[in-house]
Amino acid sequence: MAMAGPLTPDFYRYEWHPLSGVRPDGEFVVAQWADGAELRCYRWWLAEQRDFELSSREGLLEPCDLGDHWHVADAWVEADGALGVRWANDDVVSRYHPGWLRHIADGQFRPESFLPEPIAWDSSVLPEPVTYHGPTVLGDPETFRRWLNDLAAYGLTRLTSLSVDPNQVEEVARRVGVLRDSNFGPVWDIEAVPDPTSTAYMSIGLGPHTDFPSLETPPGFQFFHCIENSCVGGASQMTDGLAVARYLEKHDPDAYDALTTLRWVFHGRGAEVDWRWSGPLIDLGVAGAPLTLRTFYPVRTFPDMADEDVPRAYRAVKVLGELSRDPRFQITYKLEPGDISIFDNRRVQHAREPFETATGRRLFRGCYINSDDIYSKLRVLNRRAQESKLAPA
Ligand SMILES: [Fe+2]
Repeated sequence: MAMAGPLTPDFYRYEWHPLSGVRPDGEFVVAQWADGAELRCYRWWLAEQRDFELSSREGLLEPCDLGDHWHVADAWVEADGALGVRWANDDVVSRYHPGWLRHIADGQFRPESFLPEPIAWDSSVLPEPVTYHGPTVLGDPETFRRWLNDLAAYGLTRLTSLSVDPNQVEEVARRVGVLRDSNFGPVWDIEAVPDPTSTAYMSIGLGPHTDFPSLETPPGFQFFHCIENSCVGGASQMTDGLAVARYLEKHDPDAYDALTTLRWVFHGRGAEVDWRWSGPLIDLGVAGAPLTLRTFYPVRTFPDMADEDVPRAYRAVKVLGELSRDPRFQITYKLEPGDISIFDNRRVQHAREPFETATGRRLFRGCYINSDDIYSKLRVLNRRAQESKLAPA
């Protein structure tokens, strides 16, 4: 049953989940449901949720205005199951939506909420990228949502049958979110050129890597559009860093420890740029967040660790490099003109085979979107899909 209730400090509708009881516990108010679930609400937290701004739904209470005057005089279950609170300082009665409270009790306030669980893959699980017909993804909202969920779960998808128009990749990416700019522009061409500023602009092969480990926050997702691919060679290769990391954690804990704890300095260099960052090759980040691999070896420059750690750090680098090249983990496929590979640049390592420029032309266009914007779009779409199952308000 869905019904109108107190406004919530966000833009979603919640299933009505009436409280069965409420009890005070010191400075906390404990909301209870009939199935035994509870949410312990600290009084200052309840005060912060009381008077949010109505158009932005953002909080208004300044931290310096918290104080003992925010005292709960009474708390009860309203006739409709909402939480009622009367404040001692101003005698105001606040009502809190029990479905909104319940989603917090269920842990759905966390960043990973409303996102799919990551699915680690090797070449037996995913011999080729999860593939969608591009025009259908762009034309059908539910297919778009399924595609974006697969992208978050596997970190790699492919859209086929799109145009070779140079604006195509930007059009697809902007359907998800804003582009992340870079020193070579928000959208860039990848083609072998004379006097390249990066190994990317040569015809040599590139080993498994993630772009821009020299930045504090490397780009999140990469969109890679094939416009022409007529050279001999030049196939795309992908390796799931999550799968390799889990394998190492189980089978080579020494390498895993070195890769996740010992830091290297990454140095992105150019005539006018000097990017530097120090971090481990497998950056586990914080709980609930996706891992970040830093494997673009052309810019891994200096061990940032004690001398006695350097030999085991190098052994671990080699082990990771070999596994990432192992056909058990690495897949190889050739993109056709009009295809777009989309992948999590922080998780999935990309590589390419060398190609022969005399035999044709290999022209790709790419852009980045921050992970935040991918996940934001996905949470909105998944939450709206869940709302659509509720009865009309
Ligand atoms: Fe790259």
